[in-house]
Amino acid sequence: MSEMIGVVGAGTMGNGIAQVAARAGYAVVMRDVQDDFLARGVAAIERSLQRDVDKGRLTGEEQRAIVGRISTTTDIGALAEAHFVIEAVTENLQVKTEIFRALDEITQPGAILASNTSSISITKLGAATRRPDQVIGMHFMNPVPVMKLVEVIRGIATSDETYERTRQMTEQLGKTALECNDSPGFVSNRVLMPMINEAIFTLYEGVATRESIDGIMKLGMNHPMGPLTLADFIGLDVCLAILNVLHSELGDPKYRPCPLLKKYVDANWLGRKTGRGFYNYGDK
Ligand code: CAA
Repeated sequence: MSEMIGVVGAGTMGNGIAQVAARAGYAVVMRDVQDDFLARGVAAIERSLQRDVDKGRLTGEEQRAIVGRISTTTDIGALAEAHFVIEAVTENLQVKTEIFRALDEITQPGAILASNTSSISITKLGAATRRPDQVIGMHFMNPVPVMKLVEVIRGIATSDETYERTRQMTEQLGKTALECNDSPGFVSNRVLMPMINEAIFTLYEGVATRESIDGIMKLGMNHPMGPLTLADFIGLDVCLAILNVLHSELGDPKYRPCPLLKKYVDANWLGRKTGRGFYNYGDK
């Protein structure tokens, strides 16, 4: 395949997306602002692929070929030839808007600009460009190599052609596209975050221990992880940012983030990534 995919951001989601795209045969250019972020992203990809090498599902040679299809850069200009760019940087409207403006400047006119945002308006990101019809949401789930879903979000101006090309791209990546319209939190986080927030309220109010809360939801609802474990996995700062978007954009007090969540974020207890959240994960 000669088509090139650009990925902006080498963090958990960005490197997962780069891995899946390279594994599907695409040439990938992954961009971040610092070389050490890129090196960490590539190391995470190698580790993730190693799981399949260890299970005999991938040869060492195939692993090297996949990693070899990913080039890294700190220069956003290196994405100029990409026909499809997926942005996966921090959940900050200003940062994302600047990236979309820059991508609009440098990429070819036909290129689709997708955002992996979990709650920021696709319509707003589209408005930062001169091609809002070619701006779309492509919301992958963590861990990207494992999870089948891509929530594909249409901004107010997203064209049918852009949606169709994105749906096809999602299938090329071995994922399932499910469509939704632009609305705060889309479907996934509109439904997931109130559940996580309510679990935190039950802990905050002393209704049960963290183990009971997680166990009840795991064993009782067949969820793969309890909600507090899942919050630690997603990142408590990310959960808080999404709840703040739901609260402010929808204006309904039912989305009010639990004070305990805010306190944990203030303490930099952000979950797995900082070694402590609702549970302890040792030194990270
Ligand atoms: N890379 C590659 N493979 C991975 C992986 C990774 N980072 N993490 C796990 N896997 C693989 C394992 O190798 C294993 O593969 P096999 O079954 O083929 O052997 C499989 O996934 C299961 O992993 P484990 O046996 O290690 O552990 P598990 O059974 O507990 O599964 C899990 C781990 C897949 C993460 C599972 O706990 C799960 O599905 N949790 C819920 C995840 C979830 O809800 N994600 C969505 C979060 S919300 C979001 O992302 C969006 C947002 O906007 C906030």
